[in-house]
Amino acid sequence: MTNNHVVFFDTTLRDGEQSPGCSMTTQEKLTMAHALEDLGVDVIEAGFAMASEGDFAAIATITQAIRKPRIASLARAKSEDIEIAARAIEHATRPRIHVFLAASDLHLEYKLRLSRQEALDRTGESVRLARSFVDDVEFSPEDATRSERDFLVEMVRIAVEAGATTINMPDTVGYSTPEEYGQMFREVRGRIPAVDEKGIILSSHCHDDLGLAVANSLAAISAGARQVECAVNGIGERAGNAALEEVAAALYVRKDHYGVTTSIKLDQIYATSQVLGQIITFKPSPNKAVVGDNAFAHESGIHQHGMLANPLCYEIMTPGLVGVAKTHLVLGKHSGRAALRHRLEQLGFQVSRDELQHIYYRFVALADRKKNIYDQDLIGILPDEIRERRHEPVAELD
Ligand code: KIV
Ligand code: ZN
Repeated sequence: MTNNHVVFFDTTLRDGEQSPGCSMTTQEKLTMAHALEDLGVDVIEAGFAMASEGDFAAIATITQAIRKPRIASLARAKSEDIEIAARAIEHATRPRIHVFLAASDLHLEYKLRLSRQEALDRTGESVRLARSFVDDVEFSPEDATRSERDFLVEMVRIAVEAGATTINMPDTVGYSTPEEYGQMFREVRGRIPAVDEKGIILSSHCHDDLGLAVANSLAAISAGARQVECAVNGIGERAGNAALEEVAAALYVRKDHYGVTTSIKLDQIYATSQVLGQIITFKPSPNKAVVGDNAFAHESGIHQHGMLANPLCYEIMTPGLVGVAKTHLVLGKHSGRAALRHRLEQLGFQVSRDELQHIYYRFVALADRKKNIYDQDLIGILPDEIRERRHEPVAELD
């Protein structure tokens, strides 16, 4: 029997930091960790302690300052990695060691030069070692989606027997489809009764190489995963990780479908995305779902007319839900008279039908030449007699 609470495991500070342009200082990581705590994430993967002194220091600093979420350090299935990870998180209120080891033949043969038997032995030894330091151990069979299924099941069984409390099955190279990914969770759970008997949490970790990271994560949740690994703004290795804000919004907006709860404070999403955007070297693209500049902007006349009649016509969530100040009706060459009149009224200009028609022609001619129409542009095309009739504006000028 699965409970219906999904744990949010944020890896912005680890997998996210592994992407070009995203490296962060300890102070920046701490700022981000505070934002993640305010956002309500359950687990913060603060880094990979063995990777560098900087990573170790950042993890240790975060464990002192952040008390609510669990703090995890990544570790390879090697005793020196696990020992260093244990030291980095020793002051955390709720420490976690996250051990990973490749499960695909491709990785075992070419990257690690390990036989399958050696990998199974290492799985058991490293999870047991991690459990000697902390009660909360996550194990990830890396490249799970390209691993031979019987071998993957065997590796997971050994990790569970050795004391892993969370089993994360990553789609390391973003290769899986939602149907396959969900099926993998059902199969592993069905073939290892100890997963349910011991209350082990199954977890998804998806990369976006085919643009399927969020869809795959949601498929895993439908198949019983109760932890989702993700990163703010979807940053991470190559094309990135599943975007935290998209998974959280989907679970909320489609709670009729997924039927799960989370601890994410949705109205903190936009602020968290902004904090990250100021720390790393890039912001989300304008058309990025939930947090992009255009996520709540409407330009076409038909959409703007619908929005003015009832926002539900074209918005499945209010901007306020995720902490965005307001919807933008952007004036451009696809805009119609309704949006133009609406904006003019906000700026303090009441116009008759004929006047609107006249201004509209000027507006379309301008929009054909100019990509962005600002309020000052709009005021500039108004005939003098209308400009002189201005009332108190009800909206800020752009
Ligand atoms: O993508 C991956 O497989 C990882 C693991 C370390 C969990 O990031
Ligand atoms: Zn990853």
